[in-house]
Amino acid sequence: MDDLQGKHIVLGLTGGIACYKSAELCRGLVKEGATVQVVMTAAAEQFITAVTMQALSGRTVYTSQWDAREPNNMPHINLSREADAMLIAPCSADFIAKLVHGRADDLLSVMCLARPVDRVPLLVAPAMNREMWAHPATQRNLVQLSADGAQVLGVGSGFQACGETGDGRMLEPAQLLEDLVASFQPKVLKGKRVVVTAGPTFEALDPIRGITNHSSGKMGFAIARAAREAGADVTVVAGPVHLDTPRGVQRIDVKSARQMLDATMGAVPTADVFIATAAVADWRPATEADHKIKKDGSGDCPTIHFTENPDILHTVAQGERAKQGRLFCVGFAAESRDLAANAQAKRERKGIPLLVGNIGPTTFGKDDNEMLLVDASGVQPLARASKLSLARTLVQEIAKRIPA
Ligand code: CTP
Repeated sequence: MDDLQGKHIVLGLTGGIACYKSAELCRGLVKEGATVQVVMTAAAEQFITAVTMQALSGRTVYTSQWDAREPNNMPHINLSREADAMLIAPCSADFIAKLVHGRADDLLSVMCLARPVDRVPLLVAPAMNREMWAHPATQRNLVQLSADGAQVLGVGSGFQACGETGDGRMLEPAQLLEDLVASFQPKVLKGKRVVVTAGPTFEALDPIRGITNHSSGKMGFAIARAAREAGADVTVVAGPVHLDTPRGVQRIDVKSARQMLDATMGAVPTADVFIATAAVADWRPATEADHKIKKDGSGDCPTIHFTENPDILHTVAQGERAKQGRLFCVGFAAESRDLAANAQAKRERKGIPLLVGNIGPTTFGKDDNEMLLVDASGVQPLARASKLSLARTLVQEIAKRIPA
């Protein structure tokens, strides 16, 4: 919840119905610890009041270049110098066109132009009707805006306020928040491909029942998010979990260990890093009944025979790429006792350079964790923290160990 602690964000609003989402975005920024300075264009004021944005940000809103509150009468300089980032949400087609031409005829556009480009990143969240979005002029402008160094966040697709359906909706506040937080993370995995397994597997007994475990997938999803934030191209192979896919991460849903193995083997041939966080069921019922196994009235219980599942991590770690050092494999060990000794033995048994140990029962389903990093040089404890913060630390540790 403190992902933007100490950051000062200029939140710019331009004209668009999506301004109603900017109220929630502003609240989200504040909740993450940011201070927020809202700047609105005259068109934005047609959609939402400065009073609303002032109440949510806890600061008076700026709307005019000629705001006499600034002693030097230069709000465009003062406000843009203070910022750690500027986020324009919603960013209208007209405002995008203005940015591309370097026009500066209102406070927000002059701030975008006056900001120190090396120090203050500009992120824009477009919002417009689908025809305006698809128009060659808008698409051309977006290419130019990116070339000029702005980070153009995507758009959502779906029902639009005008009654039409298509691309051009502003992203949801939570998505924009995730993108903004990501923009501050060091890009230590830029250009790398990362594959993560996450969650439990489900081994069917019959069409109704099966064997699974308490893994929530939270750690794996946090690692997928952290790797993406660090600039990697990320695929998460997920067992049955109820989690939102992190922004920009490709997700392959599977159920059983064998499906997880197939999906993983399909994804790793071009990967640089493989991180196995999934709590893969070690065994599956030897046979899967076609129909529900019924009580027969005798009081006898059915006997279930098990067969061993493939070890996904071991299989990947034995592959050519891993053996040649082109695929860096990371394992997790969920233990219930003797963590350091078990984790060290497991790292060697799995034949991998890095293993993360944790105590399973104290982490399953939780939002925080404490871990041990185990490699050939020894054991390094990582103190209790949120899973996302531990995931970011792990990503940095992995980045140190792989070729640039
Ligand atoms: N793993 C895997 N495929 C399996 C079993 C485990 O890929 N069939 C991976 C897990 O994702 C994890 C690591 O291997 O990264 C260790 O998992 P864990 O269940 O702790 O170890 P096991 O090898 O199953 O050993 P044991 O259950 O005996 O402790």
